[in-house]
Amino acid sequence: MNDLRIDRLRWWHLPAVAEMETAIFGPEAWSEGLLWTELSAGNDYRAVFDGDRILGYAGTALNGDELWLNNIAVAADARRRGVARMLMDDLIERARAHEVKSVYLEVAVDNVPAQRLYDGYGFYGIGVRKNYYQHTGTDAAVMRMDL
Ligand SMILES: CC(C)(COP(=O)(O)OP(=O)(O)OC[C@H]1O[C@@H](n2cnc3c(N)ncnc32)[C@H](O)[C@@H]1OP(=O)(O)O)[C@@H](O)C(=O)NCCC(=O)NCCS
Repeated sequence: MNDLRIDRLRWWHLPAVAEMETAIFGPEAWSEGLLWTELSAGNDYRAVFDGDRILGYAGTALNGDELWLNNIAVAADARRRGVARMLMDDLIERARAHEVKSVYLEVAVDNVPAQRLYDGYGFYGIGVRKNYYQHTGTDAAVMRMDL
């Protein structure tokens, strides 16, 4: 895991990302088509690369002075090595540069690793969306971080 770099995710990366989505999120995975829609909408996706391999990615949507973290995921065999932290640090730095005031996200209430990650960045809960995840019926916590 030497020489990791962050770069913009491009359309030609989407088949690999869709495979990662399926492996990581199962029935809740975003399809390649939906990922295309995200990029076409101008949403900013960044990935951590180890050579040509994508270890993790994060996608954000800017809405005025609010930034929504739509998606963040790291390959199972690359976790707990700071990849998500690289992605979070990068998106927060860019958010500050765009004078974003708050970052928002949704996270399954039973997703402890992700919640620990967000807690570490000072996100706090502002509400719950009931039965948000279709296949499991799990609730989502809506979280916010002020910049
Ligand atoms: C959540 C996820 C993105 C974290 O990625 P990662 O690269 O392993 O995270 P990092 O190594 O950068 O860890 C940063 C911090 O997050 C927290 N964290 C990450 N994984 C954790 C775990 N399994 N248990 C507890 N805390 C965890 C820790 O605070 C960690 O800091 P530390 O290693 O100094 O203790 C990864 O587990 C993942 O892809 N999960 C599946 C997809 C997902 O749930 N995405 C979020 C949807 S809202």
